[in-house]
Amino acid sequence: MGQVVIETKDLSKTYDGFTAVDKLNLHIEEGEIFGFLGPNGAGKTTTILMLLGLTEPSSGTVQVCGYNPDREPLEVKRIVGYLPEKVGFYEDLTAKQNLEYTAELNNLPRGEAQERISNLLSTVGLSQVSDQEVRKLSRGMKQRLGIADIWVKDPKLVFLDEPTSGIDPEGIEDILNLTANMAKRGMTVVFCSHQLHQVQRICTRVGILAKGHLVAEGQIDGLGRQAIAGGRYRIEAQVGQVHQELIDAIKRMGGVTDVQDSGDSLLISCNKDLRKQISKLIVESDNSLLGMRIEEYSLEAIYKKVLS
Ligand SMILES: Nc1ncnc2c1ncn2[C@@H]1O[C@H](COP(=O)(O)OP(=O)(O)OP(=O)(O)O)[C@@H](O)[C@H]1O
Ligand SMILES: [Mg+2]
Repeated sequence: MGQVVIETKDLSKTYDGFTAVDKLNLHIEEGEIFGFLGPNGAGKTTTILMLLGLTEPSSGTVQVCGYNPDREPLEVKRIVGYLPEKVGFYEDLTAKQNLEYTAELNNLPRGEAQERISNLLSTVGLSQVSDQEVRKLSRGMKQRLGIADIWVKDPKLVFLDEPTSGIDPEGIEDILNLTANMAKRGMTVVFCSHQLHQVQRICTRVGILAKGHLVAEGQIDGLGRQAIAGGRYRIEAQVGQVHQELIDAIKRMGGVTDVQDSGDSLLISCNKDLRKQISKLIVESDNSLLGMRIEEYSLEAIYKKVLS
């Protein structure tokens, strides 16, 4: 197990009698890209604000890299990067000056800061506009600048709240790649989004929040199996010749619960991933194995199912 970066126990937030986050238990480890999902108003941003120490929990506990954000907000701010839903910059300063200001706030030595800032501006594709005032930048450019701004202080943990909203397709691609690079560099990322196909592409694990509760949490393939296939693995084997003898032999294998004949292929349900054993059996029965695939699940389908 990796080092625990975020741990909440029964974390709750109530606004004037309305419970926005309700006894939430989160456990996120170093290097994960955790997709934090849920409908509008589910409590995602409220949770992030509590993790950042920007709003006080009503009850329960929060730990971020071993610190309590409520009592030790400065320690948490030092190691955490946050890209809010609406990125805010000093509009009359240039892109570069804004990053220099962040570097100064984080006590980065000037020389080191200059080099890092120029590298970062190039990484996020803003070198050309680095000397333009932020008020003249497009929304997508500001979003990219927001990511560079997070990287200036080289945080351990990053919260991205809807980082791709309003961004063109090429920009989305860049932001997803930048996010994946953060994790490769050892940062932990909490990625809040309604763009489920984007989440499916880069997240190692997801949590789906509804009315302040986690209704599903885990790796996408496992969640798919649980939510859609009743916990079973579904394997499709395309064979040269489908015959009853082969079907019966597969049915007798330990772990296989069902075999269906669909013309030129067999649809096999089992309680573990038996691809290796099944392909061996098919080949050894003097049949030819033309193809095999295990059913994969879309996050869209899982999301719909757990929220229905
Ligand atoms: N400062 C506040 N005062 C009162 N209610 C609030 C406040 N902030 C959030 N809420 C309420 O708490 C609930 C959760 O809001 P939150 O912003 O955390 O949702 P979210 O999951 O981030 O939604 P979205 O996907 O729309 O960003 C909503 O019902 C919202 O109206
Ligand atoms: Mg939100």
